[in-house]
Amino acid sequence: MKNNGNVIEKIVSLSKRRGFIFQSSEIYGGLNGCWDYGPMGVELLNNIKKEWWNSMTLRDDIEGLDASILMHPKVWEASGHVDNFTDPMIDCKQCKARFRVDLLGGMLNEKRKKKSVRALNENCNESELKSKIEKLLSENNEVNAFDIIIEDEQLSGLLLQELNCPQCGTKGSFTQARQFNLMFKTFIGPVEDSGSVVYLRPETAQGIFVNFLNVQNSTRQKLPFGIAQIGKAFRNEINTKNFLFRTREFEQMEMQFFVKPADDKKWYDNWKEQRMKWYTNLGMNLDNLRFQNHPENKLAHYAKEATDIEYNFPFGWGEIEGIHNRTDFDLRRHEEFSGKSLKYFDEEIKEKILPYIIETSAGASRSFMAFLTEAYSEEEVKGEQRIVLKLHKKIAPIKASILPLVNKDGMPEIAKKIEEDLRFKFKIFYDDKGAVGRRYRRQDEIGTPYAITIDTQTTEDQTVTVRERDSMEQIRISSDSLSAFLHEKLST
Ligand code: GLY
Repeated sequence: MKNNGNVIEKIVSLSKRRGFIFQSSEIYGGLNGCWDYGPMGVELLNNIKKEWWNSMTLRDDIEGLDASILMHPKVWEASGHVDNFTDPMIDCKQCKARFRVDLLGGMLNEKRKKKSVRALNENCNESELKSKIEKLLSENNEVNAFDIIIEDEQLSGLLLQELNCPQCGTKGSFTQARQFNLMFKTFIGPVEDSGSVVYLRPETAQGIFVNFLNVQNSTRQKLPFGIAQIGKAFRNEINTKNFLFRTREFEQMEMQFFVKPADDKKWYDNWKEQRMKWYTNLGMNLDNLRFQNHPENKLAHYAKEATDIEYNFPFGWGEIEGIHNRTDFDLRRHEEFSGKSLKYFDEEIKEKILPYIIETSAGASRSFMAFLTEAYSEEEVKGEQRIVLKLHKKIAPIKASILPLVNKDGMPEIAKKIEEDLRFKFKIFYDDKGAVGRRYRRQDEIGTPYAITIDTQTTEDQTVTVRERDSMEQIRISSDSLSAFLHEKLST
């Protein structure tokens, strides 16, 4: 399904139809970049988060944390977000569209940009510069021109006069390029002045860094050890797009692993491998996953080495997780800005050191979308189309459905008893409405691995049929053994 252009539309439609994702505030026309998880969506999301949480914390070298979303504003000065968490942006004065300049451009690397800027404006007066710009544009090179805008202010003005708005086509209607900070601002307390500004956190990581010693002291962990956290983060993205891929409110699953500086490379490689396995263990095909290393000139301000785990979405490859060697940048900066020591006493060398941090930063919302995309399948069964979500059993929202064939002859009573028996052990779905074929289709569309049908034979010998979602094969087993059956199947 990956190359089918409208697969995203199909997933969006199924998400609404079956209660995975709704548009936020839909009855008011929606709120751009915000989505709500419906009854199936929240189960799937919780299962993904549970798998991640267990993989991180059911080991003796990682502790959990749940820090607050609002933090002291100095945190974001120390982290570099106040100065660096910006996107270059231009507005079209005509149609009011707003663009990230780096997304309009993005073709040139830093070296080539600098060379192009130099080549354009070296030793020339304004009119010579203008003719050079005309030449650049006549080579149909608007994209490169957009790239150059953010490099040089004088050039920027001239170039912007010549470029066309990609949305309305108007020439020269742009504002100057400006840096736009992506953090959401709000005010703490009743007074809305600059002294009361706080930010909605743009990443959960900082809550971990500022608690590094609290966690270490209270748990007596020794290096290397990690701190894991799941939580909401907020970014005022200029352009939201691709369903859940770029949203303004999203959830992160971040684990920061504190290591001795000399061990950074070893742990960076180790976590790369572990994180890739996490996705494949939950059913993702390795062909749809890849590492995308950040080139040195594109590294975030805190990173020494970084890679993205990307998923092959229908719109192309997109990051679902970042793995970074953040060095001691964050702890050092928090020491500087808070005036408090965040050093760890290394008993081996009897010295206080600042650990390095290897970060694994996964998007829960983006992983959700990747798992949904991976699972979405269309098949032809006996001349009819079947849509089925082939979700891994561990993350499927519903584990089994209970379907009495008809609403009479004692079948609903038996079905209810089975429901009672299973309800508190597995997430189940009782459905007695409509033709059984339609009921199977509904379960297929929400990815339920097993459908249990109660029929006439059940009333005679207490056996039920269990239909497996992907193969659609049915077996008959005693209703007494259902719980053990599901337990075994779902745990393997
Ligand atoms: N903590 C890294 C990120 O949010 O991208």
